[in-house]
Amino acid sequence: MPISETMACQTRQLEASDAAIAAAAACLRDGGLVAFPTETVYGLGADATCTGAIARLYAAKGRPSFNPLIAHVAGVTEARLIGRFDATAERLAAAFWPGPLTLVLPKTADCRVADLATAGLDTVAIRVPAHPITQALLRAVGRPVVAPSANISGHVSPTTAAHVHADLNGRIDLIVDGGPVEVGVESTILGCFGTPVLLRPGGVPSEAIEAVLGTPLARRAPEPAAGDDQPLAPGMLASHYAPRAAVRLEATSVRPDEALLAFGPDALPGAEHATAVMNLSARGDLTEAATHLFGYLRALDAKAARTIAVMPIPHDGLGEAINDRLRRAAAPKD
Ligand code: TXA
Ligand code: MG
Repeated sequence: MPISETMACQTRQLEASDAAIAAAAACLRDGGLVAFPTETVYGLGADATCTGAIARLYAAKGRPSFNPLIAHVAGVTEARLIGRFDATAERLAAAFWPGPLTLVLPKTADCRVADLATAGLDTVAIRVPAHPITQALLRAVGRPVVAPSANISGHVSPTTAAHVHADLNGRIDLIVDGGPVEVGVESTILGCFGTPVLLRPGGVPSEAIEAVLGTPLARRAPEPAAGDDQPLAPGMLASHYAPRAAVRLEATSVRPDEALLAFGPDALPGAEHATAVMNLSARGDLTEAATHLFGYLRALDAKAARTIAVMPIPHDGLGEAINDRLRRAAAPKD
């Protein structure tokens, strides 16, 4: 194939800078698809008001369009234009925005987010990211930007620009490289119309939300009912965040031919025979473990492990989100 043709398939990648943010904003306003860092994971952005761009986004990810997207905005003022805040939502926004919390709210009457992005629901998921590059980009675009994680649907979420490139090169217009992300798991999603309901554990621990609410958080049923083709948070379908390798949870020993995803200082029986070992946090720190989770799953997968054995990980703090992602990584893929 002539070089010009192969070059045409490459996605442009820019180091984060004022010029890169300006180029990314122009591309988004033009209906393009741009991957950019947030504090949680890399997102794949499209203009939330442009149905054509959103359709291309679903196609680039291979994502079913009944799975709605999160609208990202620069601040609570912009958020109020698209979602209806009750007193509880206002309190949560004041406590956690900007940051890794997504609120699902009733749409305002003149909400500009396209129906295709919200899968026809009368609610909209809204997030105000804290990352300075995301903030600058959203302010430059001046419109809500929908952004799912920048990976092929069902794959492990990306925490570096290289992960995005591996999944989406040639399928999107631009990648802004802002280095590795800080949090490493996606935002916590809270349904906030009536009693708040935890839809997805994530970067803000449930305990922190409960401290603000002053009550224990209700949780959605763990899995959608059989035959329910539009569950409340369809991204929570059983198999998600999945490496090619099988994933075996709560491992108390390593079997022959397994790679080991370790946690904490203790050695596991059989670990010396593991095909590869990566420790999420040797000192048992859940924040550090969240940062490493998706990158280490990708790295062990690349080492052609048939099965990744995962040590038990505590469920408190960010452990709730880590265990949620691991459970989905381990779920049967069909
Ligand atoms: O941290 C994050 O949230 C990242 C970064 C890029 O911001 N984004 C992200 O998006 O994780 P995504 O598309 O991978 O996950 C969005 C989740 C899906 O599970 C979707 O079903 C749910 O949000 N969701 C979106 N709109 C919803 C709505 N109106 N009601 C219930 N769930 C909704
Ligand atoms: Mg995702």
